[in-house]
Amino acid sequence: MARKKRQRLEVTIDALGARGDGVAHANGQTLFVADALAGERCLVEPGQKRGDGREARLIERLDASPQRREPPCRHAARCGGCVLQHAEPELYAAWKQDNLVATMARRGFDADLIAPLESAPPASRRRLRFAVARRNQGYSPAFRAGHSHDLVAIDHCMVAAPGLMEVAGKLCSELGPSGVREIELTATPNGIDALALASSDPDLALAERLLDLARDADLARLAWKAGSGPVYVVAQSAEPAMTFGPVTLTLPPDAFVQPTKWGEERIVSLIRPLLSGCGNLADLYAGCGALGFALMPGPKLSMFESVDAMTVAARTAARLAGLEMTATTRDLDLQPLVAGDLERFDGVVLDPPRNGARTTCEALAESGVGTIAYVSCHPGSFSRDARILADGGYALERVWPVDQFLWSHHLELVAHFVRR
Ligand SMILES: C[S@@+](CC[C@H](N)C(=O)[O-])C[C@H]1O[C@@H](n2cnc3c(N)ncnc32)[C@H](O)[C@@H]1O
Repeated sequence: MARKKRQRLEVTIDALGARGDGVAHANGQTLFVADALAGERCLVEPGQKRGDGREARLIERLDASPQRREPPCRHAARCGGCVLQHAEPELYAAWKQDNLVATMARRGFDADLIAPLESAPPASRRRLRFAVARRNQGYSPAFRAGHSHDLVAIDHCMVAAPGLMEVAGKLCSELGPSGVREIELTATPNGIDALALASSDPDLALAERLLDLARDADLARLAWKAGSGPVYVVAQSAEPAMTFGPVTLTLPPDAFVQPTKWGEERIVSLIRPLLSGCGNLADLYAGCGALGFALMPGPKLSMFESVDAMTVAARTAARLAGLEMTATTRDLDLQPLVAGDLERFDGVVLDPPRNGARTTCEALAESGVGTIAYVSCHPGSFSRDARILADGGYALERVWPVDQFLWSHHLELVAHFVRR
């Protein structure tokens, strides 16, 4: 049967959408066009539904925006990791800033509260997760294509810290045949910490080969995780350690670390003056304590974190550094803090995962905590939580966009709240 010919439309892109696609309107429909900038006239082919509109494939760009540039990465056209390399830096920064302004405006916050965007330099992502893709006769590191689960094999990445791509290439080609689906790499001062995510445990022959592989790739450590099983170390030549303030800590395998050193330092430099006068500080969603430790010595510090390995690492490192603090393993969704738990603190730093900290903010809204520094990697959940705090009597003083996820649609931010 002859394939039905798809309709083609000539459209003018009205704006850049929150995900970096050009947004156009035609025949009462909203169209999302990848690799299209505002003002560009394009010939497009509408395709499958996405949200309240449709994706539309770019057939031909009929005229180009003066703010378009050649993407610096050769994989930019297909790889979904970076969505806006084809825009001049000023347009990229304005797009991210405007997205944050719009998200916060929906919750009733003014654009004047938001500082200008600061972006991480290229080649600064010290932590990346690569998919393992079949390529020719072998296996290669890959990222997902935009709006799709398809894998795009890559041999180069503009955001990855030096050395990560080379190690990713080696590990993917060696471990791909053994069913490893993803490789997570973290560059630490003592070498690269690698985690292989596989569907099953390595057999004896593979386990023996892993030692050689870790040596050849010059890894500090190689850990393994099969399905939802536990993470365990299969080879180690150096402690993957990081220094946070006065504390040097061995990262547990699979520990969270801020994706860039630049971002971690920028976040710390922003929250330090906000919390410097506090005598009793809570670090909520603390991970290994990168933020709380960075404010030490000074305040009495209490960390709360759901992953036991991270609180154990924080406690151990603090003891070795002769620092008094507490680190409590507590899932703040399953065992939420209530206002009474928070009364002893005059300052709180919270840095929740992408879904935010609704229940924690409800407790904070009823508490007498004087100063809150909220670090977020999701402006949407942040704005929801900021509204809870504002309705509970906190003034939002300032928001700083800290662009750790260069060229992607993700954005980190730091916000300062004070009790009125
Ligand atoms: C964005 S990370 C921040 C970690 C730390 N502040 C840092 O800068 O390295 C969020 C942390 O929250 C933890 N987490 C996630 N859900 C949690 C929950 N329900 N209760 C407590 N901690 C949680 C994660 O394990 C992770 O360590």
